[in-house]
Amino acid sequence: MAMAGDKVHHSNAAPIPEGGLASGDVINQYTGEKWYYSDIVKDHFFHPRNLQLEDLVPERFDAFGMVGSPACGDMMSMGLKIDPATETIKELKWKTFGCGSAIAATSMFSVMVTENGGMPIEEARNVRPQHIMERLGGLPNRKIHCSVLADKAFRKAVNDYFRRTGQHERVIVEGSRVIDPKLNITDHDIEEAVLEGAADLDAVQQKLKVGIGSPEIIADVEQLIRFYKEKYYG
Ligand code: FES
Repeated sequence: MAMAGDKVHHSNAAPIPEGGLASGDVINQYTGEKWYYSDIVKDHFFHPRNLQLEDLVPERFDAFGMVGSPACGDMMSMGLKIDPATETIKELKWKTFGCGSAIAATSMFSVMVTENGGMPIEEARNVRPQHIMERLGGLPNRKIHCSVLADKAFRKAVNDYFRRTGQHERVIVEGSRVIDPKLNITDHDIEEAVLEGAADLDAVQQKLKVGIGSPEIIADVEQLIRFYKEKYYG
């Protein structure tokens, strides 16, 4: 398993203060922005809970989900054991090629949905990335897409459970809608841009050129930016 990401760059880096990084764990060499990991994040990164590297295969679980992250190309697999009578999550195992933030966030998520006898799956579907971040004591903004990887794998696994148990009406499919027909840009593309840190129309347009030449869709784009900012950043 690779644990990429969270790099410290030395060339052209902002000067590191004497005695180490007092107020930030990593300093962005281009912007000087400090990226700080809480002690809880570090604990879950170095001691991940419910990580399973071997035999994490669909047949061994009641539900299984695997997703990739368009934001960074990493992936996440997740298996669930579910008590059919109460629909509570009895076990959640996972593995990822994601970075330290993905490892910490998924580890914390696995604790949240299995503690106290297990959370009902419908309740667990309402656990948002910002709830995971609250329990972690925060994540750097640029790392929020890493916690979304756990959320997406979980949603896929729950849909798998409903399909396996014939409850097709409970499956929630999150499809894409074309927002800019000229450039073929979807709501999903805008979601990814927000997850990569674009916080307003200007920043999203720098990444996607969405709405340039189509002023009639700008209001729709701005509404989506607000929606995804609220969804992921609270
Ligand atoms: Fe890919 Fe964090 S950078 S999961």
